Amino acid sequence: MDKSESFALGLSGLLLAVFIIAILYAQFARNIEIPTCITDVEPFTTDTLFQVGEDEYELHMIARMWAFQPSEITLPVGSKVHLYVTSPDIIHGFKIENKNVNLMAVPQAINYISVTFDEEGDYFFACHEFCGAAHHAMAGRIIITADDEAQATGGQP
Ligand code: CUA
Repeated sequence: MDKSESFALGLSGLLLAVFIIAILYAQFARNIEIPTCITDVEPFTTDTLFQVGEDEYELHMIARMWAFQPSEITLPVGSKVHLYVTSPDIIHGFKIENKNVNLMAVPQAINYISVTFDEEGDYFFACHEFCGAAHHAMAGRIIITADDEAQATGGQP
């Protein structure tokens, strides 16, 4: 092996050791938490549907291989929904039929849109980004009901 090659190899090994020691030092000696997946952080870990006002909701949607979580949501007619979408694995899409909603679900990022449902009916949504073997199964629906007794549901998967 050439002298410069072994020098580069040795330097790479040394830097690798320095980086590993730096991570371990931050984690254990300084108690600095190493960033985790967004989907391990609230509110994506717990309830995914919250009421935030009269007829106003926050929906935290996880798109993963190969399902939406939650996949069926029921809301009263007239609901305004603040929609947050992310992914724990690879890039997915989120498109609601007959609504101007078309987002990407990107790992380590949260995409946002707000949408109002003024008419009752079933609004189907699907993944529009090819994401593997069961891409075609990634779908769900938002049921908008005029039934005053109906509860907003769709929280915990
Ligand atoms: Cu997820 Cu296609």
